[in-house]
Amino acid sequence: MDRYAVIGNPIAHSKSPRIHAAFARQTGQTLEYSTLLAPLEGFVTAVENFRSAGGRGLNVTVPFKLEAFALASQRSPRAEAAGAVNTLTFRADGIHGDNTDGAGLVRDLTANLGCTLAGRRVLLLGAGGAARGALLPLLQAAPSSLTLANRSADKAVALAESFRPSANGTMLSAGGFPDLAGQQFDIVINATAASLSSEAPALPTGLYAPGALAYDMMYGKGDTAYLARARAEGVTHLADGLGMLVEQAAESFLLWRGVRPNTGPVLADLRRELS
Ligand code: ATR
Repeated sequence: MDRYAVIGNPIAHSKSPRIHAAFARQTGQTLEYSTLLAPLEGFVTAVENFRSAGGRGLNVTVPFKLEAFALASQRSPRAEAAGAVNTLTFRADGIHGDNTDGAGLVRDLTANLGCTLAGRRVLLLGAGGAARGALLPLLQAAPSSLTLANRSADKAVALAESFRPSANGTMLSAGGFPDLAGQQFDIVINATAASLSSEAPALPTGLYAPGALAYDMMYGKGDTAYLARARAEGVTHLADGLGMLVEQAAESFLLWRGVRPNTGPVLADLRRELS
């Protein structure tokens, strides 16, 4: 049987095995998908062992996405742009590395949330790995403007500069949170790690245009701190990152199996369990 896994540390609570098992059932594919706990110093050995035992591919999560990038012998343009790899595919000619996180975000925004990105004003909060992974797919969706804002402004400015060649017609700008005062956006995406510590980024008020979407890449039971703050400001279109999780998995499944699963029922099941 074709074997896949998600590798990380910790990994026990990963939802990926359930998501991929559901995709496999739904599409009539026969495969096994498990979790693989790698020691913090033992990522490469764990990957090689899995590959030698007949493994076909791996999803890669915290803290190994940079090591997976280095290990891949070929990388997709979106993995190069993200500087990180979340999907490894073992091929006869080497290890192929891709990154499906940003594509998963864009698909969640457009297909699940009915959001048009083209021609809209997008604000991306954060300048770490999560923000970087989202930048190329967001720019490819051709928003009128993409503003990058981070607690440490210089990191946002440097990140935006490195993506300027991919901006095409999108107005790309960057700065700190206070620089946002007086501006309005149609889509605001929180890619900071603030929600992990139950904090919301310290944003000026009044950033949300009428009908704007507030999106958090994190998810949990109920609103994240960022979403709670947006709701308190009167935003009614809110979404957390559970859809992105399922969509990035679907993109990986498509890469490996050549068929795109229907994510709706899988997302609905996970949502029911969280509530
Ligand atoms: P990830 O890979 O999840 O993006 P990271 O690379 O460590 O993680 O980046 C964390 C991001 O969250 C950074 O943009 C960080 O801002 P700084 O660059 O100023 O550190 C942001 N972040 C973390 N905690 C935050 C908080 N409480 N408020 C605002 N931003 C926060």
